[in-house]
Amino acid sequence: MASFNVAAFLFFLGLLFGASFAQLTEDFYDQTCPRLPNIVRREVKRAIESDIRAGAKLIRLHFHDCFVQGCDGSVLLVDAPGIESELNGLGNLGIQGLEIVAAIKAAVERECPGVVSCADILAQASKDSVDVQGGPSWRVLYGRRDSRTANKTGADELPSPFETLEPLKKKFEALGLNSTDLVALSGAHTFGRSRCRFFNGRFSNFSGSGQPDPTLDPTYRQELERACTNEDTRVNFDPTTPDTFDKNYYTNLQANRGLLTSDQSLFSEAGADTVDTVNLLASREGTFLRFFRRSMIKMGNIRPLTGNQGEIRTNCSRLNDLGAQPGHDVM
Ligand code: HEM
Repeated sequence: MASFNVAAFLFFLGLLFGASFAQLTEDFYDQTCPRLPNIVRREVKRAIESDIRAGAKLIRLHFHDCFVQGCDGSVLLVDAPGIESELNGLGNLGIQGLEIVAAIKAAVERECPGVVSCADILAQASKDSVDVQGGPSWRVLYGRRDSRTANKTGADELPSPFETLEPLKKKFEALGLNSTDLVALSGAHTFGRSRCRFFNGRFSNFSGSGQPDPTLDPTYRQELERACTNEDTRVNFDPTTPDTFDKNYYTNLQANRGLLTSDQSLFSEAGADTVDTVNLLASREGTFLRFFRRSMIKMGNIRPLTGNQGEIRTNCSRLNDLGAQPGHDVM
């Protein structure tokens, strides 16, 4: 009776948070691919050695994966018969790092063919990217399977850099992530770059006001204006420590040095509950890292496919049966 109550309670929690915590486990590949963590970590380190942005690209892919029909590798699928790629969705235009995922997957396939999902590789690679660059480590939960569908419309509706707090909160809440998760996860903008097109509207006539965005520090604005020689120039998210995973994202927000409207809105919207969280995470490195780790695990649990659902793709960009057809390369 007691065990039934516990199971019922966990099931209820799962429903409540729209996530399937119970189905993913730390030991999922212990028998079938015991060296998985070492292989992925080695490949992530190698990628970062040749491209300092590799880690940032990987974690962003995981975020965009989880936010569209759950963490199921759907973001990686390219156009094919029956697949309208999420990569053509508004939120994914210009997203990078697919070749890094392909290299990691190839290394995993060499040791454990047909066993490890692309969705799990994204989750593991994100953790490694963060801790290789100075952030926290955590124990990744595994057992996600890869989708046989993509949802381009979902990718059109990913959180936008031009959005303010309320719409951002709604998009996170719809996936069981609260405003603390929103603030903690946005901390990933402590590394990586953004193209100028996503923030240059803040420089002048912001929202038709005839003035620059008042929540953008004027000195920082001038630095950005100088750096943005064209719309596609990439600028550091964190002007202080651009490639280190630390709490400076939050101290930047406190100084009106958030790069995107969506970043600065966490601190600059009067009365918002996110302001206290920004101040808390800005105060101590350890606090930010603890919050970030917790929210990443929560994000990685969004609606995974498990059991017999979906498949384990051989090539992360293509469905297995389409991959075997003439004209579709397998790796
Ligand atoms: C809160 C809503 C968010 C918005 C509106 C947003 C928007 C953006 C935009 C516009 C870029 C620049 C893209 C480009 O220039 O091509 C970017 C980059 C990035 N985002 Fe976010 N993001 C959000 C949340 C997150 C989250 C939750 C994560 C991870 C946990 C994340 C990780 C990154 C990283 C690491 C980069 C840099 C990628 C690179 O250097 O290639 N973002 N984001």
